[in-house]
Amino acid sequence: MSTNQLDKKSQAWSALFSEPMSELVKRYTASVFFDKRLWLADITGSLAHAEMLAAQGIIGADDRAAIERGMAQIRSEIEAGTFEWKLDLEDVHLNIEARLTQLVGDAGKRLHTGRSRNDQVATDVRLWLRGEIDLISDLLKELQTALVDVAEKNVEVILPGFTHLQVAQPVSFAHHLLAYVEMFARDAERMADVRRRTNRLPLGSAALAGTTYPLDRERVAVTLGMVDDKGVAQVCQNSLDGVSDRDFAIEFTAAASLCMVHISRFSEELILWMSQNFGFVKIADRFTTGSSIMPQKKNPDVPELARGKTGRVFGHLMGLLTLMKGQPLAYNKDNQEDKEPLFDTVDTLKDTLRIFCEMVGGQLNPANGQKEGGITVNAQAMEDAAKKGYATATDLADYLVKKGLPFRDAHETVAHAVKAATSHACDLSELPLAVLQGFNASIEKDVYECLSLRGSLNARNTLGGTAPAQVLTQIARHRTRLA
Ligand code: ARG
Repeated sequence: MSTNQLDKKSQAWSALFSEPMSELVKRYTASVFFDKRLWLADITGSLAHAEMLAAQGIIGADDRAAIERGMAQIRSEIEAGTFEWKLDLEDVHLNIEARLTQLVGDAGKRLHTGRSRNDQVATDVRLWLRGEIDLISDLLKELQTALVDVAEKNVEVILPGFTHLQVAQPVSFAHHLLAYVEMFARDAERMADVRRRTNRLPLGSAALAGTTYPLDRERVAVTLGMVDDKGVAQVCQNSLDGVSDRDFAIEFTAAASLCMVHISRFSEELILWMSQNFGFVKIADRFTTGSSIMPQKKNPDVPELARGKTGRVFGHLMGLLTLMKGQPLAYNKDNQEDKEPLFDTVDTLKDTLRIFCEMVGGQLNPANGQKEGGITVNAQAMEDAAKKGYATATDLADYLVKKGLPFRDAHETVAHAVKAATSHACDLSELPLAVLQGFNASIEKDVYECLSLRGSLNARNTLGGTAPAQVLTQIARHRTRLA
């Protein structure tokens, strides 16, 4: 190729410039070493644009064919790792366009008709993020399924439920896990919602004001799958907003942050449950590490790191919000800074979800088709712990209410009973009937039914409660929802 304009521009942008960029400024302004990751979205967007330009008679069918041929070649070069990314060419867009022109000549130079890098990059990021949201949604589904699988095996396992990290009331371990399923289900809903607003087409906004060419933006949107549930093209309706809106990236990072909040809460519980003082669960050794000095140690590094990485995702959310704050319309180079936080948020969230899927649910053993090596539950340790903190005290109060006492009086009566049990260093259920009757004469033998952990559990049989019957209903609902 005798004249590759873009290569020339890498010396100085155009005839307008009297000197080339300094090396420092080149490095400072270039984004290719991180935004090259958008290459597939960039090619996909360009092909849709070229198809429309040809359909509208803005470029020839031969140009379109040449562009397709060149892009196919570029694609295989990138996939093979032979594509030469040049810092001089600043970003992924200029690198691909320059190579295209090198390969197919003038057709390559026609591709940018009616387009600017401003609407191009906004389109690329949206296309790329849409794909990542889909992967994240799959992982969220997988994690929920893994949790439901463990829950199903532990419906009757009793865990001390805490408030203020003090024993409160017994709960089914399955019920506790299903609380996380609810959180991850909402995360998935949020992702689906963000996807709807991400999946809109900025292309055709050009630099900021639209373009003089008779573009068919709806056609491009349909080609790129930027359509709603009914197949209607989703196109950014204001060119200034189209090139400068990064709400979708912020929303995504906010949704990712909330998901990490949930992961970090679960991590914290795993860390507690794994400590010697609890001993409720074990995670497979491959998710733990030893200590270089203390030979007995198995540290829950994976949950701890997940808890730590939550902070970095929050940081990206703050970074993106601050990046947008006070930017005048329309595109500003500030926006180039949206990529690294967004990429790192996606990477962190995906890796974390992947690792949690496996840590909770285990790995598929192809020999027997079973998942193995997930979370191991020590039901006895949980139940023993639930016996410690007078977890059925509320049940005794409820018992007295059913005998006709006002709740406040029942509450006070039980406080006396707990005091007595504490001084005898025994559980309420271990106090003799005569002693219990000393607190209230209406207490009968059947009280022991409600003082048992299992009786307490079974009694909470209202929608959303911890009774095994309710938990099984929820498991069935989740199964249908996740099928
Ligand atoms: N690399 C740029 C970015 O990520 C592409 C858009 C550049 N547009 C411009 N007018 N300099 O934002």
